[in-house]
Amino acid sequence: MKVGIVGAGMVGSAAGYALALRGGASEIVLVDRSLAFARAQAEDISHAVPFAHPCRVLAGEYGALEGADMVILAAGVAQKAGESRLSLLSRNADVFAQVIAGVRNAAPDAILLVASNPVDIMTDVAQRISGLPAARVIGSGTILDSARFRSLIAGHLGIAPQSVHAYVLGEHGDSEVLAWASARAASQPVERFAAQVGAAITQDVRDRIDDGVRRAAYRIIEGKGATWYGIGAGLARIVQAVGGDQRSVLSVSIVTPEVEGVSDVALSLPRVVGREGVIATLRPELSGTESDALRRSAEMLKDTASRL
Ligand code: 2OP
Repeated sequence: MKVGIVGAGMVGSAAGYALALRGGASEIVLVDRSLAFARAQAEDISHAVPFAHPCRVLAGEYGALEGADMVILAAGVAQKAGESRLSLLSRNADVFAQVIAGVRNAAPDAILLVASNPVDIMTDVAQRISGLPAARVIGSGTILDSARFRSLIAGHLGIAPQSVHAYVLGEHGDSEVLAWASARAASQPVERFAAQVGAAITQDVRDRIDDGVRRAAYRIIEGKGATWYGIGAGLARIVQAVGGDQRSVLSVSIVTPEVEGVSDVALSLPRVVGREGVIATLRPELSGTESDALRRSAEMLKDTASRL
């Protein structure tokens, strides 16, 4: 599995580092508008390889992406403190016009994995510019928000996040929807599990977890300027699902024919991810309030994308 990463900043390099540590790529190629910077990041990551899995870590121009099976798009600007993800749109859409042309020239068959924000709209943009089938242009979407949701539920219940299945749907951003109605711990509805361990999920607990998920990036950006470890690991997880044809169910974003009555909109739902990209999409059980919130999120994304 040859994986390209365009944009060797914090998110791109964290993805490369996570991928090197987790395994799942035989070659990782970093591309950046500064070749010297990409080379330095690649050399640094390559020094972790002896402690991890065999893998070549290189840097180059777009031509070095030739033969890549998957290319992570992490180029563009990131939020500053207090800025929403959507405020980045026009700047990053311009960057993508150039980046996708470079990637498609070198690696026309690669699956694209979009990480730049606002990730849902950028996924829509990437799919339109590339002309690739929607299933092969995947946005990291809410994979990170779902991880945050699982971690916070798990922390409340006193169990490992791996024993919690719960998804955040819709926009990776302010309008996202925490799907409590379908959240499970050890195969039971989280409320039932919570009652058994004496850790009731009250409205206060829900509000705290909702805020913990929805406002996570704002808090981290306030504290250290950007987020990169969580998303880096999430991107590596998606690459592994594709490279290993794992058919893992992950909440990722693709342009979706219909969501709660809204057509052709890029947002996250749980999806089966394997060698061909997204193989199937699932619609989890939702409460009436959650389904209304998902429709509003879809409408907002569709409206924003159509104004580009
Ligand atoms: C995050 O949620 C900023 O989108 C990035 O960490």
